Amino acid sequence: MKPNILDISKINMAKLKEVRFDSGSFVEGETAKVLPVELLLEDGVKITGLGKIYGEDARFNAIKEENILRTLADKNLGAALVLDVRKLSEFFPQEGTLIVETKVPGETLAEIGHPQPLDEVQAASKLIFDQLATVGSDSKLIEDNQAFCGDISTSNVVESPKGYSIVDWSGMFGLKGGTELTQGYIAPEIFDENGEGLRFVQADTFSLATLLARVLVGRNTFRELVPRKPESAHLTYEQITELVPPVVHAFFKIALEENPRKRSPEGAKNPEEHYKRLKSLFLGEQ
Ligand SMILES: Nc1ncnc2c1ncn2[C@@H]1O[C@H](COP(=O)(O)OP(=O)(O)OP(=O)(O)O)[C@@H](O)[C@H]1O
Ligand SMILES: [Mg+2]
Repeated sequence: MKPNILDISKINMAKLKEVRFDSGSFVEGETAKVLPVELLLEDGVKITGLGKIYGEDARFNAIKEENILRTLADKNLGAALVLDVRKLSEFFPQEGTLIVETKVPGETLAEIGHPQPLDEVQAASKLIFDQLATVGSDSKLIEDNQAFCGDISTSNVVESPKGYSIVDWSGMFGLKGGTELTQGYIAPEIFDENGEGLRFVQADTFSLATLLARVLVGRNTFRELVPRKPESAHLTYEQITELVPPVVHAFFKIALEENPRKRSPEGAKNPEEHYKRLKSLFLGEQ
């Protein structure tokens, strides 16, 4: 009998006996980054999870994903749980890391094309603001330069029963070039060679605002506003004022500021405060 995925936190991983893949899903040279896995526990129980593959060159991404997921799990913030971390070479003919994690139930926002009602988006967004506040202000993650998502986009966020949950924390912004990121969600400063440099919280904030705008206006309108080319195309506040209700204008005005400095209002040097303040603005509480 398969346990409900939401009950997975109750499973004692000391009882984990085996990680199994569908062998047909591995094609050398074209390995998918994410594979469905089956975990076999000592008592015979099977659980379905996901195996994320990180090559040697993506070591930092793997460590970042693991550390962030563990931090969020400790706070019960609706993120995937890390079930196991193994050497990739145990399973595949290559070096690297395999992270086995639980599947967050629900579909990604990329699959939701129609405009969503504001009250539903407001309710579901509480979780993602809380996840980012926790990650952005965790002293260990800050020390390790990992206190950000780095690739907030519709394909990396699942609408779970608890709200919008980020399922891909391995993003690195444009640190390896803009193309590693999801086009249309990238903060403008990432392409600005003469800019002041990257501020993690501010760049995540821009992508988060883009994500929330995309959910509110729907896929087709979003793509009309932000065409797929050039890569640096991004949303502006002026473009969406007519399209979203006035109660969220204050949020988008700040969060879509071109200048990253202006995205963190006075007194909000602290990421926790920053996300808390923006969350209330998005909820129309200020
Ligand atoms: N924990 C999870 N729960 C549910 N779905 C997940 C989870 N992790 C990943 N997914 C799904 O698998 C897809 C790919 O995962 P992920 O975003 O981590 O890898 P990727 O997109 O290949 O990497 P990158 O974003 O660096 O290109 C996601 O878009 C999402 O649909
Ligand atoms: Mg992804």
